[in-house]
Amino acid sequence: MTRRILLLPGDGIGPEVVRQAQRVLESVGEQHALDLVFEEANLGGVAIDREGAAYPAATQALAAEADAILLGAVGGPKWDALPAGERPERGLLAIRSDLDLFCNFRPAILFPELAAASSLRAELVSGLDILIVRELTGGIYFGQPRGISTGQDGVREGVNTDRYNETEILRIGRLAFEAAQKRGGRLCSVDKANVLEVTMLWREVMESLSADFPDVALSHMYVDNAAMQLVREPKQFDVIVTGNLFGDILSDIAAMLTGSIGMLPSASLNASSAGLYEPVHGSAPDIAGQNVANPLATILSAAMLLRYSLHAGDAADQIERAVASVLAQGMRTSDTAVSQSLDSTLGTSEMGDAVLAAL
Ligand code: IPM
Ligand code: MG
Repeated sequence: MTRRILLLPGDGIGPEVVRQAQRVLESVGEQHALDLVFEEANLGGVAIDREGAAYPAATQALAAEADAILLGAVGGPKWDALPAGERPERGLLAIRSDLDLFCNFRPAILFPELAAASSLRAELVSGLDILIVRELTGGIYFGQPRGISTGQDGVREGVNTDRYNETEILRIGRLAFEAAQKRGGRLCSVDKANVLEVTMLWREVMESLSADFPDVALSHMYVDNAAMQLVREPKQFDVIVTGNLFGDILSDIAAMLTGSIGMLPSASLNASSAGLYEPVHGSAPDIAGQNVANPLATILSAAMLLRYSLHAGDAADQIERAVASVLAQGMRTSDTAVSQSLDSTLGTSEMGDAVLAAL
């Protein structure tokens, strides 16, 4: 059975890291007889330049047909002056919303070899294995009304609206409880229920779900405290479930604990198995085109793609083992190199070569 994988390289370092992940997918695809077919389309700034829209109709059509999507990154200074509604990032939000990818899994796992690259002391992070479940198609990212308007007094005002209904909270909550069930059995729901009504409802709904999952220990934490606890004692967490904005912020914090944001993959899923996979890092325009970006987050995203959308767990395991072995052999890109001098680090394509060799 042919599986269609849509590549959306995007902007900045996106094309470089997606290319390496594609090579890895081609290799494991062959080894596991997966019959993968790759298509490519534009998303983000590159789509604005070539097709006049951040999420063009042609991309939308291919996305609807794909079995899975692998995305690089979007955005960059070139498009910073565009009005809010036309920026590259809107393309990313549009595809998430269009495909109803409400569930974003962001695992933060420390490879033992990278403990020294973490911004925290090794004993605080060794063995770290957290899963952040971020709601991705609701909350303040999408709530109406939104915009910037000028009042009669000539003073401008910016507005965004944070809103979640019970259905949206229930569906992300269920997936988070199920994920916790398969892991350490602990779920921490992060909110700001001491101030924000939208998260008071969030907490209530999470609490109500708890009855269906007696084997999962549910706790609640305010987001400010959660940010502090993540850098104080991160290993207290197993699964964290939270809304769109808090999840965006906490996942960057969790990323740095693992040594580099260049290591973190993510999966965005809907109620069917078609998903979108992307590194947590951004387009890093400052290092784009220089063959220095770390492709491992995208390669690990490709592993998640195989596991969740193509149900090829063996192939996914093989990629993750290859990445671990490359790190164990001391190979590093410059973002994760702590002790190596810069001229001994690998470039983007050389790291791709190393993973391919380890496969
Ligand atoms: C992320 C990114 C995006 C987000 C941006 C690029 C729109 O930061 O995926 O975490 O805020 O969701
Ligand atoms: Mg982010």
